[in-house]
Amino acid sequence: MDGQNLISIENDSIDYTFSIFGLIFFPDLIKGMKEMYRVLKSNNQSRTAIASWCSDSFLPEIFRETLNQLLTEQNNGKPTTHKQLASSLSNELEFKNHLESVGFIDVSITRIEHPLEVNELSDLSILLKSNPAYVDCLDLLHTDELKLKFDSLFIEIAKSKNPKRSLENNKLQLKSYSYIGVGTKL
Ligand SMILES: C[S@@+](CC[C@H](N)C(=O)[O-])C[C@H]1O[C@@H](n2cnc3c(N)ncnc32)[C@H](O)[C@@H]1O
Repeated sequence: MDGQNLISIENDSIDYTFSIFGLIFFPDLIKGMKEMYRVLKSNNQSRTAIASWCSDSFLPEIFRETLNQLLTEQNNGKPTTHKQLASSLSNELEFKNHLESVGFIDVSITRIEHPLEVNELSDLSILLKSNPAYVDCLDLLHTDELKLKFDSLFIEIAKSKNPKRSLENNKLQLKSYSYIGVGTKL
């Protein structure tokens, strides 16, 4: 069901709620947080955990750069940026404030590093298509020509970053950081 409207879940009925890189894509993420809060039991023990991308991670960076380049082309060379993409809750303080504003207490935001490993950067083409940010990017581009350019430009920009291979398994290590926000319902 829509995470912004958990209609079939009663108030105060759940011990733990989680959203792993899901809520960050909701059109109204505060509505999603309020729903996660509403369905939790009011017993000072029920908790929520939400994972978000930090904006200095490899994938969100490449999404942003690819989209910005194509949007600039769409606007006849006038520099255009779209920073929000896949970056909601990428600000630690804002993340904490949002959780507290819907009622959570004992809020903590922890930054986690866990590199994404791929054999080749071209492998990202498959990952790309399953990411909701991909659909959001294509929606912002108004011609089929620009939409068609997205995949190849994405890989080209990824290659220009020259990620290093691990000496242990020879895979490319793509830096990935996320925030895990945790809060308790009183
Ligand atoms: C990047 S995927 C993460 C999937 C999963 N949590 C994981 O870690 O593999 C984001 C997911 O959020 C879901 N999503 C986006 N908006 C949603 C909404 N309003 N309600 C419920 N799910 C939503 C998408 O369908 C997609 O499956």
